[in-house]
Amino acid sequence: MVTLRMIVCVCNAISEQEIKDWVELGGSSMSELSDDLGLGTYCGSCRDCARQIVTDSVQARLPDAIHQLQDEAEPTPKLSGFVAVARAIGS
Ligand code: FES
Repeated sequence: MVTLRMIVCVCNAISEQEIKDWVELGGSSMSELSDDLGLGTYCGSCRDCARQIVTDSVQARLPDAIHQLQDEAEPTPKLSGFVAVARAIGS
């Protein structure tokens, strides 16, 4: 079976799934994405596409983060970035 990977950043060979996995680990900003994976650090033509993937992935995780805020539970490390986004949206 062949697994297809959509490459978002050709210069650094970073796939859409790698970006989604990075968000799953708590990443939530383009500057962090560049620092952590090196995305967009060469020609920069991937940044708009990557930004959309990050935005969609973060929004998909927000309900869990909001639920933790409502429960006033200490955010799990995996959701701490999303909780910060949820707090910023709520303020
Ligand atoms: S395609 Fe990402 S830096 Fe060039």
